[in-house]
Amino acid sequence: MQFFLDTAQLAEIEQAAAWGILDGVTTNPSLMAKAGVRDFAAHYQAIARLTPGPVSAEVIGVSYADMVAEGRQLASLAPNIVVKIPFLPDGVRAIRTLSAEGIRTNCTLIFSPIQALIAAKAGATYLSPFVGRLDDIGHEGMALVRTIRQLLDTYKLPAKLLAASLRHPRHVLEAALAGADCATMPFAVMQQLFSHPLTEKGLAQFLADYAQLQSHA
Ligand code: G3P
Repeated sequence: MQFFLDTAQLAEIEQAAAWGILDGVTTNPSLMAKAGVRDFAAHYQAIARLTPGPVSAEVIGVSYADMVAEGRQLASLAPNIVVKIPFLPDGVRAIRTLSAEGIRTNCTLIFSPIQALIAAKAGATYLSPFVGRLDDIGHEGMALVRTIRQLLDTYKLPAKLLAASLRHPRHVLEAALAGADCATMPFAVMQQLFSHPLTEKGLAQFLADYAQLQSHA
């Protein structure tokens, strides 16, 4: 499973890339706003330079014509840009058009298996089911990821399953067990993937024992 960061913060992307575990980045208009971005195009280019994989950049328009025009423009910014398009009837149509032009797309705001199937049939490169937001309303978000996996396998659809809206490390593990191709997560969650109290305790003990040996040398 690939590890993506769900962020528009350059420092976070730089850090995750330095750890060597960063496979891609996803953004959305809320994350861009949170990062205080004014020049979206320049910022996407900066993210694309730092990221050793796909970078999802979301369209703002909601009409077919706007999404297609914006999608073409976003895709021209860098070779690793993937155009993120919301699941709407016009969005699905835009995914079909862009994918016929060889532009990679990520269908976002997926909350049901049939939405995923429709987007996959339209040629979406990535499907983004939002796990945490379903959990927030009392559903089991990960069940959606498992069902989409089944649908993609049954119909041998090439779309990649990108588990999104992940809130904690357990979500990341569950996405991997469910057969997600990629998991996108906030920086804090990626950071948490490294930490285990027993690893920290074990290392402290190793270093203390070594220091004691040195003091007797
Ligand atoms: O980028 C899409 C998704 O990961 C958003 O997550 O935490 O805002 O529900 P969240």
